Amino acid sequence: MLQDSHLIEKLQRFDRERIPERVVHARGTGAFGDFVSTADISDLSIAQVFKPGTKTPVFVRFSTVMGYRGSPEQARDPRGFAIKFYTTQGNWDLVGINWPIFFIRDAIKFPDFVHANKPSAVTGVQDANLAFDFFAHTPEATNMLTHLYTDEGMPDSYRHMDGFGVHAFKLVNAQGQVHYVKFHFKSEQGVHGIRPQDIPNSIGADWNLMTNDLYHALRTGDDPKWDLYIQVLNPQDLNKFDYDALDDTKIWSNVPERKIGTMTLNRVPDNYFDTTEESAFAPSRMVPGIEPSEDRMLQGRMFAYADTQMYRLGANFNSLPINRPRVPVVNNNQDGKMNFGERKGEVNYEPSTLGEIPQDPRYKYVQTPLSGTTQQMTIHKTFDFQQAGEYYRTLSDQDKQDLVTALSADLNHVTNDTNKYTMLSYFYKADADYGTRLVSATHANLSRVKMLASNLSDN
Ligand code: HEM
Repeated sequence: MLQDSHLIEKLQRFDRERIPERVVHARGTGAFGDFVSTADISDLSIAQVFKPGTKTPVFVRFSTVMGYRGSPEQARDPRGFAIKFYTTQGNWDLVGINWPIFFIRDAIKFPDFVHANKPSAVTGVQDANLAFDFFAHTPEATNMLTHLYTDEGMPDSYRHMDGFGVHAFKLVNAQGQVHYVKFHFKSEQGVHGIRPQDIPNSIGADWNLMTNDLYHALRTGDDPKWDLYIQVLNPQDLNKFDYDALDDTKIWSNVPERKIGTMTLNRVPDNYFDTTEESAFAPSRMVPGIEPSEDRMLQGRMFAYADTQMYRLGANFNSLPINRPRVPVVNNNQDGKMNFGERKGEVNYEPSTLGEIPQDPRYKYVQTPLSGTTQQMTIHKTFDFQQAGEYYRTLSDQDKQDLVTALSADLNHVTNDTNKYTMLSYFYKADADYGTRLVSATHANLSRVKMLASNLSDN
């Protein structure tokens, strides 16, 4: 009977249990822990999280990128490495991945990159033919593709990978001086991937290998650790490289790294949905002393995350327990769906002399003079192939062979001849040995590849 409101509401409530999954990085695993700073970098940043000895609680969410929420965790894919630092100045999110670079350098290409790599709009199945149709027009992806098809493209555990902030960020000290910085979390457990011939057995054995491995370690007290290293550049040195130092498809070669702290993960969350699913990470979430650089991808990301989270979780997503800072928040936000009204008092505006909490916007971004033109065009120093070649040449013979095996397997699915040869020319341009081995593994014509590669620009 309709009068059975328990039945009705229980079914209604059940009917509404699902929320939109993340548009990317939908499959993820969360863990709690802490970050301890070990070096004095007050000459670089006023951020309290970096004060030596400071222990900051963190929540980390690891993820694959392209798969749906329940998809197998072993896929050839970058891995998300998103960290929320609950600092005494509010939250700082470092939303990175397991490699130091990315596929593209222009934010406007991100939806296209994702569409080409997600399952086909017709079959719902991922298709290398579509992915390489995009990459054949995206030579800047050559460096990242070379990382993706090594064994590290199939990590055997979330514990066995590094984490990178990828972009350049700015650190700002008490005098308002700026340094550009890159963040690198190095796994104390080492970095291991799965070799191509072991992939079928490994995936067949456990679709949830990454989560099971991490949670088993945490539950048995085998807490994983990562040491945080930074690379630092003076603003005047940004232009000293052949490549553009704000291009996220490039590493900063030959810039020394220094260790500034250690992160330890130690606790499995009690509730998947309340934590891992409802967590909202955003590169724009920063604290005084840490600021975005002018990297055009990062600038695009400054918008996209809070925007998608307002859609995915609602306007009050920042008040959810997993996202809420561990310090009082004074932002005059009010109302909206699912607001549980913890803001007190009548003064929901500023400036004010009546408010109980002083409204004191002490911190503003540093001023950075900008020069140049407004433009929608490619950056000047593209250098699309050089670092891919340099990386290839650092690999062991075994790693080179695994890379060629895995990459040629996907290139062999490319039915469009022009795209296939364009891709081969990119890899040949990066390194002649790399390209030649791929040509042989894909039964292609070496002279044609060489001819195409000779038309590609060196810079
Ligand atoms: C303009 C380029 C990009 C756009 C527009 C973009 C957009 C997004 C969006 C909309 C989400 C879902 C967020 C959510 O629902 O909470 C997401 C997640 C994520 N993105 Fe990006 N992204 C971009 C580039 C990147 C890059 C370069 C990296 C790596 C450095 C990255 C790493 C991540 C990670 C790790 C997550 C998952 C965060 C989590 O675990 O919740 N993204 N991205």
